[in-house]
Formats: sequence, structure tokens, C-alpha cells
Amino acid sequence: MSTLSARQTGLLLSGWRDAASAAAYLALADRLRLLIIDGRIPVGTRLPAERELATQLAVSRTTVTAAYGALREGGWLTSVRGSGSVARLPQRAPILTESPSTGVLDFTKAAMPATPALAAAAQRAAARLPEYLGDPGFDRVGLPELRAQIADRYTQRGLPTDPDEVLVTIGAQHAITLLLRTLVSRGDRALVETPSYPHAYEALKLAGTRMVPVSVSDDGWDLPALEQSLQRTSPAIAYLMPDFHNPTGQVMPAAVRAHLLDLASRQGTVVIADETMAEMNIDHPALPLPLAAYGDAVLIGSVGKSVWGGVRVGWIRAGRPLIQRIANGRTAVDLGTPTLEQLIVSELLPQMDDILRERGDVLRAGRDHLTARLARSFPEWEVPDVSGGLTFWINLGEAVSSQLTLAARAEGLLLAAGPKFGIDGAFERFLRLPFSYPTAELDRAVDALETAWRRVGHVVLPEDQGLLAAVV
Ligand SMILES: Cc1ncc(COP(=O)(O)O)c(C=O)c1O
Repeated sequence: MSTLSARQTGLLLSGWRDAASAAAYLALADRLRLLIIDGRIPVGTRLPAERELATQLAVSRTTVTAAYGALREGGWLTSVRGSGSVARLPQRAPILTESPSTGVLDFTKAAMPATPALAAAAQRAAARLPEYLGDPGFDRVGLPELRAQIADRYTQRGLPTDPDEVLVTIGAQHAITLLLRTLVSRGDRALVETPSYPHAYEALKLAGTRMVPVSVSDDGWDLPALEQSLQRTSPAIAYLMPDFHNPTGQVMPAAVRAHLLDLASRQGTVVIADETMAEMNIDHPALPLPLAAYGDAVLIGSVGKSVWGGVRVGWIRAGRPLIQRIANGRTAVDLGTPTLEQLIVSELLPQMDDILRERGDVLRAGRDHLTARLARSFPEWEVPDVSGGLTFWINLGEAVSSQLTLAARAEGLLLAAGPKFGIDGAFERFLRLPFSYPTAELDRAVDALETAWRRVGHVVLPEDQGLLAAVV
């Protein structure tokens, strides 16, 4: 069982006191509840002893005892003899539902409905399936024709690629896991951006890496920090999102790409570029070439955003020896990507330029609509200009993201609080807001946010049942 120290818990709780619930113990309980709901305190984790947490937070022990008591009563903590207080989910919580009950808006996800082209492509793929039914169907690297198509798309993007340099995965998340299994050992350092994609942090934690954070903001990558971190820590890997970084939407300039890869190769660092968002190009600025065109880098791709999150196909582009190592180790994790889904993607890739144009139009409408509404409703928020991606990384001006998230839940709007995208509780001033939804839903979300914003710091938040969802 993993244990959170009082210090770590204190970091995760930063700013909890500002939540002006009627009583301190309720504010503390609320914040701990949010941390359990959004996975920053994983279920099964032992919380610090009451006395230690009280000392860390500089509150009386009675406050912590009462907060733990309230959580216990709500089913969020259990006391295990000899093990202290362990994070739990209430029995009645709809665990891991990905289809929130009607009326709840799930803005924890930066996602879109399926491309309209999908249904017909699935029918064509089903018609092709009989050709494959004589084969065993287990395949660790992917169908040759799909690998060739993916390689061709890289070549068209200016990065000549051979089909042998592509391995088809079950989405980008799986690609991250396969790469970490192959490239890192427990205790290795991993350079990561902050903020970053939360499920990558989870995978890096699970792999036992020590994360070395480098910040990305409205001004882009912190270059001196990037240089220093690479040089001082020689991380085994660097996990980066150079194209429409999630959540900030930033694009890494070409000169930074070349410099970064040069430094990384000198330190023996394998650079992984997650390009899941790369094709979500709204204003069609001329993007730099894919990272691997500037030096050695492993690329991750996916159709999760372009086609649909429900088509679980992604890929890794790397040198042949690494592709071989990944394929050899893969069978401990899974036995290959489903053939039918690969065929669906194979049907869609020839239409991809049209699909991406349609995606860009939808995202442009959402981005422009949400920009205008936010400017009217929240003039004090800093909403960045982004030319791609699915989200705004908004500076709220106050460290209240967790409070706002809790208050919004009570209004039927699920949000991922800023700290979900950081390490150790950073980013309480920030909120990631997706603009990838229809305008009617964006309007409902802003209405809910208006009410929630008025309530931040003013009320005791009602107990909810902790609807859990992945943050993508
Ligand atoms: C940066 C990033 N990487 C990986 C993923 C996971 O993608 P997939 O659905 O292909 O597993 C996401 C999903 O949101 C993402 O934003």
C-alpha cells in the first residue's frame, strides 16, 4: 500500500484554506475529496496520520480529525487497523463511468464526437475483413498496409519514413506504456513538461521514473531550464508534446527542436514526442516538421482526436532496432491491435486531409465561440490565443481552480482542476477548458461556470457522489 507523507499531502492541498467553507474541517474534507475523485490521491493510498497532517498544515489536530471523520462518513476513507486512514470511493459512487448521466457535462475530456466519415469506413473495413480471417490475427507490429500508409503520411509531412519504422499500438496511451517498458528502469529520470497530459504522468509514475519538470507557458518552453535540466540530470527519456502541447496549445519553434535534440543526443536522452494533438491545426499555421526531422526522436501518433477516441489505434515511429525491442517485449502487455480497427483506420487514412479540415472547422467554431463568451463572462481571466489543439489553458488570476472545480460539479459540470496537469499541486491558478464541444454545450458550461465562480469561496459545497472520469 502506498503512503502519502504529510509533506506531499500538504503540497497537494496547497490553497485549501482559501476555500471559505463555513468550517475549516469541511474545506479540508472537500479538497481531499476532490483529490481522491480526480485520482491525485489514488484509491488505496494511506493518508498521513492526523497529528502529522495537522502539524504540516499548521491547524489543530481536531480540524484534521473532523475532516477525516467527515470523509469516513461519506465513504471516502476507511480506517484499517494498523494502517491508518486509506482513501476509498463511496460504495454508491458510479466508478469509472465514461458516460455521465444525462444532464452532466463532462469537460474533463478534450474530445470530439466521431468524424462523420467513420461509420462508412467501418462498413468498408468489415467488408475487407474476410480476407484476413484465415490468419491467426495476432500481430505485434500492425498490418503491413496500415504501417505503409502511416509511413507515407510522415513522408508527406516531410519526414521520410519506412513501414519498418512504424509499430501500430492500441492508441497513444498504450504507445507511452510500451515505450516506457522498453526504455526506462525504476529510478531513471524522465524529463517532462509542466503542465502536461495527466495520464502520461501516471504512466511515468507507474514506471517508477523520477520526473524532472520543465515549464511550458504562454511564452512557450522555458529554454534555459530545458538546457539545464538535460545537462545536469541526463534523463533517460524526455516526454514532450512539441505540436499543440496539451493543455497549453503551444508549438515548439523549429530552432528549439534542433537545439533540444542536439543537447539530448549528447546526454544520451531518448526524446519522445507525443503528436496526439499535432493534426488539430485550426488556423493552419505552417508547422515545423515533425520533431524526428531535426534529429533522433521517437514519435507517438494516434487517431484518438482526428477520428474518434473509441477507435483505439495509435502508433510509434522509431528506428528499426527500437521497434524490434518494443515488439519483442509487447506480448507481456497485449497481443496486438485488433485487426478490424486497423482496417477502419486504413480506410480512413486516404481521406485524412478532408477529415482534418472538417475537424479544424468544428474546433475553430468552438474556440471562437468560447473566446467570446469567456471574454464577456470572465473579463478577469487570461484566455490565451491558440491556433490548434482542443483546449484553453486559462489563468484564473487566483489560486482557486480546485474550488471552482468542486463548485462546478455541483452545477453539473465536470472539470479537471489545474493541478491535475502538474506535479505536486502546482497550477491552482489554472483551468483547462476544452472548446471541442458544440456551441450549445459550451454555453451551458459557461452558464455553470458563472454560477460556480460566484460560489467560489462563499459556500459550503454539497456532497456529491464522485463521478470519476479519465482526463484526456
Ligand atoms: C497528449 C496525449 N497523449 C495521449 C493521449 C491518449 O490518446 P489515445 O486515445 O490514442 O490513447 C491523449 C488523449 O487525450 C493525449 O492528449
